[in-house]
Formats: sequence, C-alpha cells, structure tokens
Amino acid sequence: MSQNDKQNLRRDNEPSAGNSSVPMWLVLLVGLFFYWGAMYLDQNAGGFNSKVYHPFGNYEEVDAAQPKDANAQLIADGKRVFNSTCSLCHQPHGMGEVGKAPPLVGSEWVLAPKPDRIIRVVLDGLQGPINVKGTEWNLAMASWKGTFNDHQIAAVLSYIRNNWDNKAPAVTEEQVKAIRAKEKARTQPWTAQDLQPIAER
Ligand code: HEC
Repeated sequence: MSQNDKQNLRRDNEPSAGNSSVPMWLVLLVGLFFYWGAMYLDQNAGGFNSKVYHPFGNYEEVDAAQPKDANAQLIADGKRVFNSTCSLCHQPHGMGEVGKAPPLVGSEWVLAPKPDRIIRVVLDGLQGPINVKGTEWNLAMASWKGTFNDHQIAAVLSYIRNNWDNKAPAVTEEQVKAIRAKEKARTQPWTAQDLQPIAER
C-alpha cells in the first residue's frame, strides 16, 4: 500500500461529527402522536380512576348506574306508595292536617324501635282516640291490607321511618308477612288501646 493509499483510506473511514437538523415532518408527527394520546386518555381513562371505564366519564356516573343497596330500593318503592296514597291525608310534608290525619314526622308510633304496631295499623286501619306527640286525635284510617302487598307495606313504612327528620330501622317484607298471617282473622280496625299490649321495643 502506497503512502497515498493509506492517507485516502484514513480520510474515507474517519467518522465525522457534524450537525444535521431533525426534519420538520418528524417533529410534527411526534406532536400529533402526543395530541392523539392525550385525547385518547381523556376519553378513555375516566379521570384516571382505575374503577372507571368507557362509556363512563367519571366515578359519579359509574356510581349512579350501580344498583343501590336493598334498603334504598325499598325506600324508593315506599316513596311511590306514600305519594300516591298516604300523602292525601298525612300530607307530602308528613306533618298531617287537623281533621284529616295525625303527623308521621316525629310520631312516637312511627319511630318505635319495633314496627309491630304500625304494621298492624296499616294492615287493618285505626280508629278512635290516639295520642300522637302530645296531641289527641280521634278520627279513622281505613285498612290497607287488600290494597298493598307485604313488600309495599314494608316499603312505605321503611320510607316514613326514614324520610323528613325521621330515622328508624327499615321494616322488612318478612315482618309484614308474619304479622299479616298472625292477624288474618281480624276484621276491625285497631284502636290505640288494642295496640298497647303489643311490644314496641
Ligand atoms: C284517608 C286518610 C288517610 C290515608 C290515605 C292514610 N291515613 Fe294514616 N291515618 C289517618 C288517620 C285519620 C289516622 C288516625 C286515626 C285515629 O284517629 O284513630 C291515621 C293514623 C296513622 C298512623 C298512626 C298515627 C301516627 O300519626 O303516627 C300511621 C303510622 C299511619 N296512619 C300511616 C299511614 C300510611 C303508611 C298510609 C299509606 C299507606 C296512610 N296512613 C294513609 C288517615 C289516613
């Protein structure tokens, strides 16, 4: 190899450091990918909550679509019965009306720990003198046992025990069913006096 050849070889293979600019189209493409990625996450990531998937946008939407617990369903059913029937006399605000019906809000009858008396009241009706929150009433309420089934009665009682400022354990369909069976021979409305021996707690 001649001296000249050696020099040529060195020159050709020598890596050269220089600047070459990133092509504009690549910058735009990467930018576009970022944009698309951000949009994709925005639409599908449910606010970065691991419990949320398409088509729900956030956790509130998922929660609203979930079936509620059994008591909430019962109370919702009870609200329908109340609004279509009981509210005519006891009023939508539950405070009753003079000459029509006593209050359910704050009523010691409604809020008794055991619902054994009010289940009877709704099944067979109530008449004669009754004291509710210190006021004497003397009217009459019809029987509802032919109108509403056990579920509906449990529902409406659970509703009046847990609406307005009232707070008391829900009433179950089984409790209504048991009392309906026990009192099936009864043909007369209850009186407050008849109900006294029935345990409230
Ligand atoms: C036609 C009017 C009327 C309707 C409708 C009616 N009630 Fe009554 N309710 C009365 C009257 C009147 C009394 C009091 C009876 C008495 O003076 O002895 C009463 C008493 C009660 C009581 C016991 C007293 C109290 O205020 O806590 C409860 C509980 C009750 N009703 C629940 C209901 C429920 C639940 C419904 C719907 C299924 C209903 N009522 C529908 C008129 C009505």
